[in-house]
Amino acid sequence: MSKHILEARGIDVRFGGVHALTGVNLHLRPGEVCGLIGPNGAGKTTLFDVVSGIRRPDRGRVLLHGADITRRSPVWRARHGMRRTFQRQQLFGQLTVADNLLVAQEWRGGGGGLAADLLAAPTRRTHERERRARASTVLRECGLAPLADDYAGALPVGRARMVELARAVADPPGVLLLDEPASGMTAYERGQLSAVVRHLAEEENCAVLLVEHNVAFVMELCARVVVLDLGSVLAEGTAAEVRANPEVRDAYLGTSAA
Ligand SMILES: Nc1ncnc2c1ncn2[C@@H]1O[C@H](COP(=O)(O)OP(=O)(O)OP(=O)(O)O)[C@@H](O)[C@H]1O
Ligand SMILES: [Mg+2]
Repeated sequence: MSKHILEARGIDVRFGGVHALTGVNLHLRPGEVCGLIGPNGAGKTTLFDVVSGIRRPDRGRVLLHGADITRRSPVWRARHGMRRTFQRQQLFGQLTVADNLLVAQEWRGGGGGLAADLLAAPTRRTHERERRARASTVLRECGLAPLADDYAGALPVGRARMVELARAVADPPGVLLLDEPASGMTAYERGQLSAVVRHLAEEENCAVLLVEHNVAFVMELCARVVVLDLGSVLAEGTAAEVRANPEVRDAYLGTSAA
């Protein structure tokens, strides 16, 4: 078995004349938090779309636990432990925070099918209890317990982003893809986000790929950082290595990260 839980090999994506990704290689080990940074339009979200199965690459392969999943659907990937959050918020606004988490666990089914639905079978009630227990644990870990009964649509943006994270981890994932999760968060909320991500990686052995424009946040949280520019990997290394790379500074960091 591969030591990498996730690999993308030689990924090309074109939108007409735009080469959004060219020959991109990426790998994630279980339990690591890897940052993906780069200027606007570098191809970060497109790479997430390819890895999560929303977009088929023009060339290249995606592997999960060493097995080729390039042609697998997003749902198949989700069932096999892959979760993502989106750059633009996607919550059920008319549901409460707690219900957003319960819905996220719904795809497992309650056990027993329609007959169990009709008879309110004991297994069904046990599953329901387990889900509610898991939802309240995750809400507590994400600092959302006091907001459990609030409508998701009425939350300030930073809290809503945290609900998205909570929803993505309601079932513990093996691979978690976070597309700008800290945008709109306060410094306090970013601290909570870091703590949740660290816990997932260190305690649950989850591999996390984090896209974020807040470079200080990425450098602090990620042991390894990959830099995309114009659809290709420009650099890869520890936070310190990437920060010191002159090409990266020219393309992205400017002088602000000095
Ligand atoms: N659906 C699409 N149709 C056409 N071009 C697209 C599409 N999606 C992305 N692109 C183009 O592909 C390139 C990569 O875009 P992508 O959204 O992946 O960048 P990004 O690194 O996520 O940028 P940002 O930091 O702004 O989120 C850009 O040139 C973008 O305009
Ligand atoms: Mg993007």
